[in-house]
Amino acid sequence: MKALVTGASGRLGRALVGTTPAAVDLVALAHGELDIADCAAVDAAIARYRPDVVINAAAYTAVDAAEGAPDAAYRANRDGPAQLAETLGRRGGRLVHISSDFVFDGGASHPYRPHDPPAPLGVYGASKAAGEAAVRQRLPGALIIRTGWLYAGDTGDFVGRMLRLLATRDDIGVVTDQIGTPTQAGNLARAIWRLAARGASGLHHFSDAGVASRHEFAVAIREEALAAGRLARAASIRPIATADLATAAPRPAFAVLDTSDTCRLLGTVPIPWRDALRGVLRGRDDG
Ligand SMILES: NC(=O)c1ccc[n+]([C@@H]2O[C@H](COP(=O)([O-])OP(=O)(O)OC[C@H]3O[C@@H](n4cnc5c(N)ncnc54)[C@H](OP(=O)(O)O)[C@@H]3O)[C@@H](O)[C@H]2O)c1
Repeated sequence: MKALVTGASGRLGRALVGTTPAAVDLVALAHGELDIADCAAVDAAIARYRPDVVINAAAYTAVDAAEGAPDAAYRANRDGPAQLAETLGRRGGRLVHISSDFVFDGGASHPYRPHDPPAPLGVYGASKAAGEAAVRQRLPGALIIRTGWLYAGDTGDFVGRMLRLLATRDDIGVVTDQIGTPTQAGNLARAIWRLAARGASGLHHFSDAGVASRHEFAVAIREEALAAGRLARAASIRPIATADLATAAPRPAFAVLDTSDTCRLLGTVPIPWRDALRGVLRGRDDG
């Protein structure tokens, strides 16, 4: 299988590159090598590489900045996927597109199922929902995988930010009223490769297993980092409420995804999020 990964230097893009199965012939293009919203560039890349499948890991992911930059968010998150789907529809090839728990408003009392209606709260979520719709309209056989709370443990993600704050502050406040499932990027990448190899299509959810509040996630990061010798000292973690924070974008309070369809399809159950976190903080990515 020949696969082209877009957004290859992002968090998920790097994980896809790092977990590429031996049988896959990979072309990995970072933002500077392929702008997915540039129709001529997308057409030229598909014509040149002729991939069996494109995995779109490119996105505008700055949730708060998106509120003041809707054009940039929609360009990457709606127009880019639309362009990929249109080009693959015309030239042939499958599309795996990655989407987000932020397409939901977080008001549910059950884990979100793939066909629950999207109701995004902010610009980022709305642009991701628009990207899903654009892909489904242009390429009905595309595979769309929603995930949430993605981390690899590097500086820009929640784990990386917590490690820095725990090491440099005496006391930090983390919200107790946002609930989701931390998902290690390598685990998502391996699931994507397996779903792509099976030729899966339609809407699917993937996350690691279990549920946590942001506060519980932060406390686990603290405990696991101390146990792994990653922190010599660690700030204490104070429970706070979302209302105590002044963020530009609203967040879904409950962002747990029902992954049961994906588990049935893959014939496996996801790894408990805490085990995955422990592995990352000990420098392992063994799935
Ligand atoms: N991070 C999360 O918690 C989370 C949660 C749920 C779903 N997701 C979804 O998971 C996917 C991967 O996210 P991630 O965490 O890996 O994001 P990321 O680290 O921000 O990576 C996204 C990559 O896409 C690139 N990009 C932006 N606009 C582009 C364009 N027009 N053409 C080509 N590349 C472009 C970015 O390049 P620049 O840096 O140069 O802009 C960056 O390298 C996204 O679809 C995201 O919506 C993420």
